[in-house]
Amino acid sequence: MKIAVLPGDGIGTEIVNEAVKVLRALGLPFEMEQALVGGAAYDAHGHPLPESTLKLAMAADAVLFGAVGDWKYDKLDRPLRPEQAILGLRKHMGLFANFRPAICYEQLVGASSLKPELIAGLDILIIRELTGDIYFGQPRGRRTAVDGHFPGTEEAFDTMRYSKPEIERIAHVAFQAARKRHKKVTSVDKANVLETFQFWKDVVTEVHAQYPDVELQHMYVDNAAMQLVKAPKAFDVIVTGNMFGDILSDEASMLTGSIGMLPSASLNSKGQGLYEPSHGSAPDIAGKGVANPLATILSAAMMLRFSLNQPEAADRIEAAVQKVLAQGLRTPDIHGEGTTQVGTAQMGDAVVAALM
Ligand code: IPM
Ligand code: MG
Repeated sequence: MKIAVLPGDGIGTEIVNEAVKVLRALGLPFEMEQALVGGAAYDAHGHPLPESTLKLAMAADAVLFGAVGDWKYDKLDRPLRPEQAILGLRKHMGLFANFRPAICYEQLVGASSLKPELIAGLDILIIRELTGDIYFGQPRGRRTAVDGHFPGTEEAFDTMRYSKPEIERIAHVAFQAARKRHKKVTSVDKANVLETFQFWKDVVTEVHAQYPDVELQHMYVDNAAMQLVKAPKAFDVIVTGNMFGDILSDEASMLTGSIGMLPSASLNSKGQGLYEPSHGSAPDIAGKGVANPLATILSAAMMLRFSLNQPEAADRIEAAVQKVLAQGLRTPDIHGEGTTQVGTAQMGDAVVAALM
């Protein structure tokens, strides 16, 4: 079981260290190799996704990823910015299916900004298409030129596009995931305005014919954003494009009160996957030892389940996280009255201790 470990920037190093600690404590024969990615790789090698890092990731069974990005790279030409590392990995590895569960942990109900009754027991799954849409269409702007600026550029654009096979394969993923859950898919689009999403809606409807046991609902993205805060528990599986999925998954994650708790998986058709926390690199708290490592630790559990065929080990990690929460241990992001505040490494140690 080969795991490429790519910590990245900001809190990435700290949180990935804790996940690696937990993986090692399982006593399974993992081969873990680490490489630079994002701003860290740019500083060392002049590129956010060096050839050697990409090679390591492509040859691995799974990638454990921290986070990339820092404001200090904001002025760089687009192809050199840290974010291009994760976009490049998604593209080159064909990681088209992004699973972003939003689960409300019983012990953290009070951490949400919504009323407890709206989110207690929340368990929704956002499936975001990850290799198409406006993210990978034709861009044109001041920062897309590698050799500096396009002189005289007074407009910029990005192209939104989806092909039929791209929509079909993510629709299949969503219907199949719903079959293992509450058998309801909400497909989120903007078909009232955008051709790309009228097409999306038509193709999802076509694929649905093969899943008569699953209920399909279509919803415009603006309405979906509203329904997510109004009645989040009415959703089961949400499937949507790359851009809307980016936005809605941040919104959904915060419903649970704790973006620091949510893992994610990005899968290709070969079963390879990249696993990362749903949150970002949080440069404001980097290096302070206060970041919550649980989203990354839970991402490692998803990795064991989806790419490494070790479901028992995944269960052990998830149970250990529950146990640590029940013990009242909290990093500052989820800390509240009556709980014990701990740092990043202490939280990792506590999960290791709870594994036994
Ligand atoms: C995410 C992030 C990325 C995205 C950025 C860092 C490129 O926001 O994974 O949600 O927009 O996809
Ligand atoms: Mg995002």
